[in-house]
Amino acid sequence: MKKALSIAILIMASLTAGAQVKIAVHETRPGAVIPAEIYGQFSEHLGRCIYDGIWVGLESDIPNQDGYRTDVLEALKALKVPVLRWPGGCFADEYHWRDGIGPRKNRPKMVNSNWGGTVEDNSFGTHEFLNLCELLGTEPYISGNVGSGTVEELAKWVEYMTAESGTMAELRTANGREKPWRVKYLGIGNETWGCGGNMTAQYYSDVFKRYGLYTRNYGGNRLFKVACGASGDDYEWTQTMMANARRHMDGLSVHYYTVDNWDDKGSATDFTPAEYYETITKTVEIDEILRNHIAIMDAFDPEKKVALILDEWGTWYNVEPETNPGHLFQQNTMRDAIVAGLNLNIFHKYTDRMKMANIAQIVNVLQSMILTKGREMVLTPSYHVFRMYSVHQNAEFIPTECECGDLFSERGRVMKDFSVSASRDADGRLHISLVNPRLDEAREVELSFDSLRPKAVRAEILSAPAINSFNEFGVAPAVAPLKFDGIRLRNGRLMLSLPPASIVVLEL
Ligand code: AHR
Repeated sequence: MKKALSIAILIMASLTAGAQVKIAVHETRPGAVIPAEIYGQFSEHLGRCIYDGIWVGLESDIPNQDGYRTDVLEALKALKVPVLRWPGGCFADEYHWRDGIGPRKNRPKMVNSNWGGTVEDNSFGTHEFLNLCELLGTEPYISGNVGSGTVEELAKWVEYMTAESGTMAELRTANGREKPWRVKYLGIGNETWGCGGNMTAQYYSDVFKRYGLYTRNYGGNRLFKVACGASGDDYEWTQTMMANARRHMDGLSVHYYTVDNWDDKGSATDFTPAEYYETITKTVEIDEILRNHIAIMDAFDPEKKVALILDEWGTWYNVEPETNPGHLFQQNTMRDAIVAGLNLNIFHKYTDRMKMANIAQIVNVLQSMILTKGREMVLTPSYHVFRMYSVHQNAEFIPTECECGDLFSERGRVMKDFSVSASRDADGRLHISLVNPRLDEAREVELSFDSLRPKAVRAEILSAPAINSFNEFGVAPAVAPLKFDGIRLRNGRLMLSLPPASIVVLEL
């Protein structure tokens, strides 16, 4: 760390030290179901996400199952990945799917011009991706090439993946897969305002309709078509897309990265407390951004037929020293875990409109779940949050009210100094995820309920020796969840103390 954690000068808290956080859990007023897809992931042909991260090939001496790293496969199964977006990102708009089918030795090589000029040998293509999704029990989310690909190319890709008969199905069969795959989510382009074609929203809304029209449903497969959406607070984009194309889309996307300063994104591991507070206050700005996009969508579509799809989000820092700047490899600390917990608690509130979110990215790129180095693998603090929070997948949202204080960053951003979200699963279990983002003090928390009188509580905690602790290769993990015992029951209320910079998930 650049400075010791003397944060008194960095933040002001509006609650006095030791004051309680009071949470009222309204378990008698359930809301929308939290779609599992809110816990979605994103995998791009970028740096070492696919190659080294997921795919090592059949000849590798790294233990693998059909070319997929066994360690990563097992870790992803435990994570219950509901949906996986592929092949990009920016890469998607230069990806030509026919280069990635057939015998691997015959597949052409291309230069990955978006990401470091790396040579892409196309050894991981449609079959490798869709078979991976089947192994993981994950819904595939295909990102189609609109920037440099034709309508016909995308239409034929859909046919290749999902049709039962015809020339594309025969080609697929000749390549080793007779049965069509089930492909639900189809993105029609990515960031078409930038790396996906530099289009205006007006122009793209027509392009979207054209590509959308010719990407057909085959047999029983039903596509859910996602139109490319805004970057951050570009509300005009959402306005134009909803005005011109809402009747043709199932979902409209938005991207939001936690970046304080795009010119110098800061180090993933070497940051001051002040920088920490800039990161987390920047993170929670997503709340207002989602609310504003949703308000525009509500005006055009009060019946909520079109879903909001946050198909890229997460932290983005400077790359690790001595790594390829185009490979976006960054470490992942307890700060990233806090960012993940805060974001997920926010997303739960909007699931009557927001039906999917995909953190960027699953392995070795940006805010990853997993990092690999040769034969070694580590689970990041963000992985642990996703695993602990997986209990919210497909559970009913339970509203909460939270009385707490405020945090102020040095640049004047403000946020609440505590975060909570609750849900009830199909077996009637209540789960409550709590985040104490403060670095300076533990929070004494009291939870009350409408009518529930909890008798037994189980809990897990994620905390770390320091906010910049991370899990290193070859040593015992510094950040891993532990059983949490310090919960008191008093008159039907729960009392607990959350250490600084910690995350707790309760099960009642
Ligand atoms: O996730 C990295 C990149 O960020 C994606 O390729 C692109 O869509 C976004 O700009």
